[in-house]
Amino acid sequence: AIERTFSIIKPDAVAKNHIGAIYNRFESAGLTIIASKMVHLSKEQAEGFYAEHSARPFFGALVSFMTSGPVMVQVLEGENAVLANREIMGATNPAEAARGTLRADYAASIDENAVHGSDAVESAAREIAYFFSAEEVCPRTR
Ligand code: CMP
Repeated sequence: AIERTFSIIKPDAVAKNHIGAIYNRFESAGLTIIASKMVHLSKEQAEGFYAEHSARPFFGALVSFMTSGPVMVQVLEGENAVLANREIMGATNPAEAARGTLRADYAASIDENAVHGSDAVESAAREIAYFFSAEEVCPRTR
């Protein structure tokens, strides 16, 4: 089915000038970028986005990292977009990420792991709404 997923290019990959290379991976895999913007997250925005992880020991470091510099946020649309994007990204820990995935190629550690992607259609809808208004999402056909 055609799905939408939410993606973040994290501060490490933005700082290393990898935005274009990562967008090329999405588009080459058949995903279409239907919304996109650069944002420097506030502490409150990052804490709200990652609220489900608030009890985890890495939460403070996660929020600190995600607010350390600008990120790119985008909505990707395509066939099985949620799983397709997770395959493009590779495992959360770059040490376990398959060859040719974004984390294998661009991530330095599990904390600074280059990209975020939604883990399910339901979380994708919530994450998209957290960052984008309806008018900011621009599918090619309507
Ligand atoms: P992300 O998909 O953005 O969701 C939460 C982030 O927490 C995750 O990617 C990792 O970058 C980071 N993180 C740090 N330590 C862990 C861990 N032990 N398990 C899962 N995520 C972790």
